[in-house]
Amino acid sequence: MDLPEVNDVLLQFNKLLLLYNSALKEINTKLEILNDEFKFVHQYNPIEHIKSRIKSGESIISKLQRQGRDITLENIQTYIDDIAGIRVTCSFTTDIYRIVDMISSQNDIEVLKTKDYFRDPKPSGYRSYHMIVTVPIFLSDRVVPTKVEIQIRTVAMDFWASLEHKIYYKYEGNVPEHIRTELRECSDMASFLDAKMLALNEEVKEYKGHY
Ligand code: GTP
Ligand code: MG
Repeated sequence: MDLPEVNDVLLQFNKLLLLYNSALKEINTKLEILNDEFKFVHQYNPIEHIKSRIKSGESIISKLQRQGRDITLENIQTYIDDIAGIRVTCSFTTDIYRIVDMISSQNDIEVLKTKDYFRDPKPSGYRSYHMIVTVPIFLSDRVVPTKVEIQIRTVAMDFWASLEHKIYYKYEGNVPEHIRTELRECSDMASFLDAKMLALNEEVKEYKGHY
């Protein structure tokens, strides 16, 4: 590639990033509106917090390389689903499906894929609900449906996933068996905690006492 070609690819790549950034803003706003409305109607907010990120150029390239594909703008758009990523942390497991339903039923959102690692945890013990959706981005001359990965999990599952992620990186993927076993145990404990907290909350909801 000569210099003008490189500059053109960079320009196109930055245009792509603009789309993904816009998609993050759209989904963030949608989630905030749902949370505000829910709080207004039910006096409680299902979302504890929302974190979003754009995948780095290096991670995008290494993911395509792992997939054995050429590094092209087209392949980036077609095969990398998580360039725009949002993580939604909620209090109770029931909130997960509430959020999934509310997002999925919006007319402008198209759900491309879902993975329910809450019902079917990964062998590592990882629990979370994943969705890949597209949201339309209105540019000056066209509308571009843009992909976003949404991960929805409870505070307890998030706590587990953060530590597991750190451990995985520290050992560069070769985590000793006894640590894997302990992590699976921790995942079961987190899941037990989620179930207990939900049951407690359901019971307290029935009680009409003073604050
Ligand atoms: P990726 O190539 O990582 O995107 O995996 P995938 O395409 O098979 O998708 P999957 O839904 O399994 O995972 C997507 C994302 O979920 C990852 O990038 C992580 O953020 C998270 N994730 C998946 N599995 C684990 C896990 O075992 N532990 C932790 N901590 N996070 C995980
Ligand atoms: Mg990923």
